[in-house]
Amino acid sequence: HTEENVENLVIGSGYGGAVAALRLTQAGKKVVMLEMGLDWEKEGGKYKPFSNLITPKNNSTWLKKSTQAPMMNIAHFNKKFTGVLDRMDYENIKVYAGRGVGGGSLVNGGMAVQPKKSYFKEIFPNLNVDEFWDNYFPLAKKELQVNEIPEDYYAQTPYYKFARVGESEAHKAGFETVRVPNVYSFDYMKKEEGDEVPKSALAKEVIYGNNHGKQSLEKTYLKKAIQTGLLHINDLHRVDYFQETENGYAVFVDVIDTEGLVVAKKTINCKNLFLNAGSIGTTKLLLTSRYKGKMTNFDASLGNDWGNNGNIMTGRNMVNTLFNRVENETTNTNHTTGTGSKQSTIPVSGIDNWEDKEHSFFAEISPLPMGVEVYTALYLVINKVPTPGTISYDPTVNDIQINWEKKNYKHTVENAKYFIKKMNKANGGTPAGLLWKGAYGPDICYHPLGGAVLGKTTDLYGRVKGYKNLYITDGALVPASIGVNPFLTITAIAEYCIKEIIKNDYSVSTK
Ligand code: FDA
Repeated sequence: HTEENVENLVIGSGYGGAVAALRLTQAGKKVVMLEMGLDWEKEGGKYKPFSNLITPKNNSTWLKKSTQAPMMNIAHFNKKFTGVLDRMDYENIKVYAGRGVGGGSLVNGGMAVQPKKSYFKEIFPNLNVDEFWDNYFPLAKKELQVNEIPEDYYAQTPYYKFARVGESEAHKAGFETVRVPNVYSFDYMKKEEGDEVPKSALAKEVIYGNNHGKQSLEKTYLKKAIQTGLLHINDLHRVDYFQETENGYAVFVDVIDTEGLVVAKKTINCKNLFLNAGSIGTTKLLLTSRYKGKMTNFDASLGNDWGNNGNIMTGRNMVNTLFNRVENETTNTNHTTGTGSKQSTIPVSGIDNWEDKEHSFFAEISPLPMGVEVYTALYLVINKVPTPGTISYDPTVNDIQINWEKKNYKHTVENAKYFIKKMNKANGGTPAGLLWKGAYGPDICYHPLGGAVLGKTTDLYGRVKGYKNLYITDGALVPASIGVNPFLTITAIAEYCIKEIIKNDYSVSTK
């Protein structure tokens, strides 16, 4: 057991942690960051290459003996490994998260979507929306290196047939579509198609990590922070809980090996503590610390306003659209004979039905890159969460539980059914019952949000109420939903919080 003393400690290296680390180091502060997953770049990237979707190795999966992806081939391994994609299973919901330096940016689809201004206002009534639109969203987009697919490339590449078909089917059903920016470099993708560079998005890589092309956080925020010379990242450091001390906080850490076994225990004492372990991770740390660390001053809202961003996976089986077309060319003129055997893993279009008050949703037109034509259209639908869930701590198992029941996802299922019905009526097709039982997967969550919400568990800048020098700048701050894929919003909120914290709590003037 060792003991260390540091000034500024950041737990977690996803979006919230990366923003905090960059701005603190740029302000001249030394920062130590703890990450439970691997630093995938260390020792010449010895644990890479990342796995593709079709033939995953054990570096695909966090400490389980088989893959846990929602619908791809299940692969089995001899040995558990600290792989890049985790699935945390709770009673009615399975939450996915990235593990490693870069957090969710390592495994996500890279979609960098700005929410609707009106919905952002509804979710964050106390924030100055114009300030976000003028400053924090543009700043987040710049730092994350967001780009858009060139129209001429999109229009002709076989790799986006699935998206073009998805758009035209949506139009036929009377829905509007939008093109969605991404952090995957489309210059790189074009070169992949031209066989000029190693393939990644065009070689079925995404949720188990991209070996090329994606500007994940270790290439953007974290790279810049490391270049200051003031950031030190400790990987395979998993924090259990923390407690208040005379001068700050004592943080209790398990150092693990790549099989997940605890090889050392550390206590790290710090003055300033930044919790950025993601919605689930941060909320769990706070609740565990309330119980084990006797930190009883937290606001009563802790654990509330948790949601899945209204996530539901659904799909349409298109085989009968093909038969319809052959049988009756005159009445069914669509050309949706499948979504293509070649598919980029990077989504670039969505169906925007947000303004429909009764059925507000945003549906990502998702790829299903199986390497063969599967006649299946896949969607990740995002909804409001009118009835958020809660997270509580169960001391008998030293873990949290998510209280998430039918009432919490009823609205989401209803919306998805409305969407699929309308799509099938206009285009043919049936709900894709082969993908999930009942064809709807409301228990699959890619976008956990909330649990320690801005303006409730923290003040309006992420300072945890009841304590000093304790901060949150990650997805835990966003109450239950934001209406689009969330990382751009999480980054913008983190930028906004850390600016104020550095200016006021560190007395460093920022530009
Ligand atoms: P994030 O989860 O990124 O980071 C938290 C970090 O803390 C992790 O690295 C974790 O290992 C670490 N940690 C947790 N507990 C710890 C502990 N006790 N000790 C030490 N470290 C700990 N979003 C989007 O906008 N566009 C998209 O296209 C997608 N696509 C997508 C696909 C898939 C498969 C997933 C799983 C998710 C997405 N997302 C997404 C969601 C997006 O990735 C997510 O919202 C953000 O990563 C959340 O950022 P945070 O900073 O809140 O946490």
